[in-house]
Amino acid sequence: MTFAATVLTLYPEMFPGPLGVSLAGRAREEGKWTLDTVQIRDFAIDRHRTVDDTPAGGGAGMVLRVDVLSAAIDHALASHPEAPVIAMTPRGKPLTQERVRALAEGPGVTILCGRFEGFDERIFAGRAVEEVSIGDIVLSGGEPAALMLLDACIRLLPGVMGAPSSGSEESFENGLLEYPHYTRPVEWEGRTIPEVLRSGDHAKIAAWRKHQAEIDTRSRRPDLWERHVDARAQPASGAQ
Ligand code: ADE
Repeated sequence: MTFAATVLTLYPEMFPGPLGVSLAGRAREEGKWTLDTVQIRDFAIDRHRTVDDTPAGGGAGMVLRVDVLSAAIDHALASHPEAPVIAMTPRGKPLTQERVRALAEGPGVTILCGRFEGFDERIFAGRAVEEVSIGDIVLSGGEPAALMLLDACIRLLPGVMGAPSSGSEESFENGLLEYPHYTRPVEWEGRTIPEVLRSGDHAKIAAWRKHQAEIDTRSRRPDLWERHVDARAQPASGAQ
């Protein structure tokens, strides 16, 4: 199955951008995913091709018009009715690896990129539009966030990543950050690769990696660590 990405934006020239090279670029050439961009401005209804207007109630910035965006979404849905629609916004639910994995297993995704102050809220009423944030930072538009979301999905598509195991051991897949890595030279500026990694004892190496992952998660991401500890204390329902 080909993963169909559709991006609604005022700046289609930002795509594929970084997704045109390396892993994602090759995967696209191989037909593992497709990219359609939709210029939101093409759905403007006035002579001046206006896409935004001042916020109701006053305030700074401009807001994307619901009538224009709605027409653009209808157009995208006509080609990909089965793909979930995601609006990139700092007001959205934080993106997780779990959500990315679910998206990558589906038919694709249709992404709305906001600019200015954001979307007219009515775009979310009566439509299954999921609001997603890529973190507690404010970007000048949703495009870089859309590129991040797509990158995270594409690398998980079947046949895109070289070694299948690199997907299941990495950060967040088991609720922890990934363990630290080393490669040659064995000694560099007086610092050596931990002895255990050179021991050839696979059980010891696995135990060391697990321990390091726990230490790092605990100190760097207490929020993840707390969730991990809670999950260990309460095994999934149904487990005996
Ligand atoms: N647009 C602006 N900031 C954003 C963020 N943090 N996440 C998703 N889309 C955005």
